[in-house]
Amino acid sequence: MKIGVPKEIKIKENRVALTPSGVNALVSHGHTVFVETHAGEGSGFSDDEYTKAGARIIKNASDVWAEADMIVKVKEPLGPEFERMKEGQIIFTYLHLAADEALTRELLNKKVIGVAYETIQLDDGSLPLLAPMSEVAGRLSIQMGCMCLEAKNGGAGILLSGVAGVPPAKVAIIGAGIAGTNACHLAVGVGAEVAILDISAQRLRYIQDIFKGRVITVMSNKANIWDFVTKADLVIGSVLIPGAKAPKLITRDMLKAMRKGSALVDIAIDQGGCAETSRPTTHDDPIYIEEGIVHYCVANMPGAVPRTSTYALTNATLSYVLELADKGLEKAMLDNKALHKGLNVFKGKLTYDHVAEAFNMKYEKIEF
Ligand SMILES: NC(=O)c1ccc[n+]([C@@H]2O[C@H](COP(=O)([O-])OP(=O)(O)OC[C@H]3O[C@@H](n4cnc5c(N)ncnc54)[C@H](O)[C@@H]3O)[C@@H](O)[C@H]2O)c1
Repeated sequence: MKIGVPKEIKIKENRVALTPSGVNALVSHGHTVFVETHAGEGSGFSDDEYTKAGARIIKNASDVWAEADMIVKVKEPLGPEFERMKEGQIIFTYLHLAADEALTRELLNKKVIGVAYETIQLDDGSLPLLAPMSEVAGRLSIQMGCMCLEAKNGGAGILLSGVAGVPPAKVAIIGAGIAGTNACHLAVGVGAEVAILDISAQRLRYIQDIFKGRVITVMSNKANIWDFVTKADLVIGSVLIPGAKAPKLITRDMLKAMRKGSALVDIAIDQGGCAETSRPTTHDDPIYIEEGIVHYCVANMPGAVPRTSTYALTNATLSYVLELADKGLEKAMLDNKALHKGLNVFKGKLTYDHVAEAFNMKYEKIEF
């Protein structure tokens, strides 16, 4: 198969859909990979590395799209990319169509085949191509929380780890899923005093087991959230109710009761945020202070560390890219139910029920 990797055009998007080793895997399976010049630069991969891995470097994006049977990307196609799509072309990327009617209609009009990373789903309900970004965001949340606690940023001037004779900071993590567990790893790693809250006893049992008593696990309810948030130096918001807006678990009153200069990193901001005071910020201007608490609410946190994020993303996507390329779309979807759930649009048909519901459009099931 001919596979195209264009340079991402979304502002400040420095990730790339394939690493040179990913390209090499495809080339060694007999496929041809076209990589747009400088596509990997933001993640620290040069054209030379891609060439050595067997890619053909293409000077402009239009030619990459024109050559490819399958385009592999990171973010959804944007304006200038619409006219480059070809009928029947597979576009494998994050699409988030339920939030974008215009893009949905564009993909349908162009009769492309849109396979969305975020809707690929295993039998246990987990989303394997969303998980790596939650891992990155969870770990990064502690790094960013440390930055918020620095005096120059309006923080209380607290070092998370403490030092000999000075106790460590208190961290409260709300939501013990993938992001929360990863935040927990880093916070425990630097020696903070960590409490983690969740409504799932099973998740709390898991945390109790893996951290062997180094973390306080707490059932999430209003009273417990009040107790742990108001005493924390750093609060991490990492809850998710799949398919819904994040619940506002952290109230303004709680923030008023916290020590001034404490910090809140609301990872769940991409779902609306789990604090009453959260509003989305950007990498250019990531923090603001409200009720004396330093807020960090960046909706695309992995963008701060594109190299790690690219590796994490491509580790997860590569096996699906290989399966699509080796078997072709129909056989790949027939063999792999999880991959089939990624199919959102197919040659003018809307094939993902939640997207159809969101826009009151016709849903058409595709069986291979
Ligand atoms: N800002 C970013 O850049 C970024 C990046 C990746 C993920 N995210 C977001 O991070 C959030 C967490 O993602 P995840 O992959 O870890 O989800 P996940 O499903 O693995 O975990 C969510 C956890 O929240 C728990 N939860 C639900 N309601 C709760 C409540 N009332 N109190 C306490 N816990 C509750 C669930 O039981 C679950 O364990 C999501 O909103 C996701 O969109 C943001």
